[in-house]
Amino acid sequence: MLFDTHVHVNARQFMEDRDEVIQRAFDAGVTYMVVVGFDRETIPLAIDIAEQYETIYAAVGWHPVDAIDMTDADLAWIEELASHPKVVAIGEMGLDYHWDKSPKDVQKAVFRKQIQLAKKVNMPIIIHNREATEDIITILQEEDAAQVGGIMHCYNDSAAYVQTCLDMNFYISLGGPVTFKNAPLPKEVAAVVPLDRLLVETDAPFLAPHPNRGKRNEPAYVKLVAEKIAEIRDVSLEELSEKTTENAFSLFRIKP
Ligand code: NI
Repeated sequence: MLFDTHVHVNARQFMEDRDEVIQRAFDAGVTYMVVVGFDRETIPLAIDIAEQYETIYAAVGWHPVDAIDMTDADLAWIEELASHPKVVAIGEMGLDYHWDKSPKDVQKAVFRKQIQLAKKVNMPIIIHNREATEDIITILQEEDAAQVGGIMHCYNDSAAYVQTCLDMNFYISLGGPVTFKNAPLPKEVAAVVPLDRLLVETDAPFLAPHPNRGKRNEPAYVKLVAEKIAEIRDVSLEELSEKTTENAFSLFRIKP
């Protein structure tokens, strides 16, 4: 049994065949998922899907690339949705310095507001970090995000930062890149994260694992991620699946 802790089956790439994609995941043993909403269109859809399937949950937040579009009304809306019974986390949120649609100071302000909101509603946060590690860590520390903890999503930093994240009460989630042939960093991380702080995810439709790299990703493929990590750590797929699923239940406070 596997738990895909970060999936966007609410994205337009799944408009045509969403239910089939979800069924394929269930058939592959991916029983649980958190569908992550990140803007005005994807948030309501994440909640709709979570209402439709018993073992699917939702996260609600605002993506840093679109930080410039977020209004106070959006923030209030996210706060209201946090009390929905299937919403288990706030995010994704964070900083993305790869794209320049939203200036850095706007991204930082929107990130801080969402951390403060998560502390108010006492929910874990899901962090998107692209080329912004130093600023992410500074803000998480200044805002005392350790109070709520959460997930370093699609972790793609060196193993040197793992301990800092663990100290702040965060779990490390690994996805497709751990299977990429020319990607040593996530493999190093997969080897050192304590088993009780490790999660698996797809971030579908993005970052499909080998041998599907470059194609549309889907939640069934989280098994490829788990298999690779099990191989790196020299544990059985069964043990890895069981532990990472338990970790997700604990972080999201799900009682299966
Ligand atoms: Ni995402």
